[in-house]
Amino acid sequence: MNPKIPTETQLPLYKAAPPSEPVNITQGQAARRVYIETYGCQMNVSDSELMSGILTRNGYEMVDRLENANVVLLNTCAIRENAEEKVLNRLKHLDHRKQVQSDLVLGVCGCMAQHMKTKLIDAAPYVDFVLGPDAYRNLPMAINSVTTGDPFLDLTLDKGEDYADLAPIRVDGVRAWLTIQRGCDKMCTFCIVPFVRGRERSIPMHLLVDDVKRLVDEGFKEVVLLGQTVNSYNDGTHNFGDLLFAMSEVEAIERIRFTSPHPSDATDALIEAMASCDKVCNQIHLPLQSGSTKVLKAMRRTYTAEAYRELVAKMRARIPNLSISTDVIVGFCGETETDFMETYNLMAEIRYDSAFMFKYSSREGTLADKTLDDDVSDKEKGCRLREIIELQEGISHEINQGLIGETAAVLVEGESRRDPNRYQGKTDGFKTTVFPKENSQVGDLVRVKVESVTAHTLIGSLVAAPL
Ligand code: SAH
Ligand code: F3S
Repeated sequence: MNPKIPTETQLPLYKAAPPSEPVNITQGQAARRVYIETYGCQMNVSDSELMSGILTRNGYEMVDRLENANVVLLNTCAIRENAEEKVLNRLKHLDHRKQVQSDLVLGVCGCMAQHMKTKLIDAAPYVDFVLGPDAYRNLPMAINSVTTGDPFLDLTLDKGEDYADLAPIRVDGVRAWLTIQRGCDKMCTFCIVPFVRGRERSIPMHLLVDDVKRLVDEGFKEVVLLGQTVNSYNDGTHNFGDLLFAMSEVEAIERIRFTSPHPSDATDALIEAMASCDKVCNQIHLPLQSGSTKVLKAMRRTYTAEAYRELVAKMRARIPNLSISTDVIVGFCGETETDFMETYNLMAEIRYDSAFMFKYSSREGTLADKTLDDDVSDKEKGCRLREIIELQEGISHEINQGLIGETAAVLVEGESRRDPNRYQGKTDGFKTTVFPKENSQVGDLVRVKVESVTAHTLIGSLVAAPL
């Protein structure tokens, strides 16, 4: 792994405030070597890259092994209870490490930090500092000012903070994550995100277009635009459709994807941009959550099952070969067997290419937690989850089987995890594809003839014909 270090002159300057001042690391003090462990979604991966950028420019060295670090940062997730439990267990392990490595600094950052606040310190008093998602400019200061006294906390949420002036440091690869929007204004009743990431804000379009140009110069072939409701993007002048058109104009960027759009913001402008920009992949992750309009209402998802069904039909009619994935929650407050069957039946009808499926997990502070009864037993949630997983596995497998014999354009990403003689990459529809390397190279867009499949992978061989 070879991190890219942008120079200061490459940084887009947009905010009146200058980038965080480099902290003067005291002469003679042991060099700070920082290891970041990232939990949760791609937004956190992108935030960890932002943190690496801030720290590197302030004289810290980033390392990719915990054993080589004297600063460990956990960039955390709060979306479900088990995400937080995982980090609490990890912290116990790091406490043991701290006891043998006395100079080890331990910071907890991100969504769980913001969610648990001082309760995190109660649970893990050995943590040195706790920073929320809008406080990363203070990272160097937090690390440098660690004392034996009370832990440092910065949990300010700031609608003005978009980090647009701070370049992230990305690991080499073909796909780059680009945060275009932070926060969420939707307030789904089950979701902790608006509480831990604050209000929605979009980065100005011209800066994002410049970012894509820079990514191309750095060798990236594909960009994935990130936002909690990425398609509600609005910088005051431009909407998400405008952004997709503008990014498609950037020469040499080969593929553009985005995640995750909200069904209520899937405007005609978005559909038009997807249909007419070749570089925008024919793939969408469109969270359904539930197939019951009654449950959707209780979730405050702002669409009905019928409206969602119509949206999918409209998109499929306008965008040929559209690959669709989704998120589904089972066992939300008040979900009856009939409601669940509506979800099951809608999934069977829509036939998603793939789905992320979850048991509802009550999150402290959300409206559902405060006003609704988490009345579906864990056992029942488990049964419902198993049913839809089984349904989806079958559908994913059947859809992939339908691709056998077809030729797909695949962007080569790297060696297959299981076989050093093969490469793996993604199709336009975001399907993982594995094939013998032959004379192809990472970063190439190659043609692969699909020969066999599983529910999650296409297996094939290279076809000589040019794209
Ligand atoms: N709009 C965001 C959603 C982030 S959360 C995005 O996709 O970028 C990702 C998924 O986690 C949600 O779509 C939802 O299906 C699931 N989720 C969120 N809160 C949950 C909860 N309290 N319990 C179970 N699943 C949840
Ligand atoms: Fe969460 Fe709903 Fe926003 S799922 S991230 S509150 S769109």
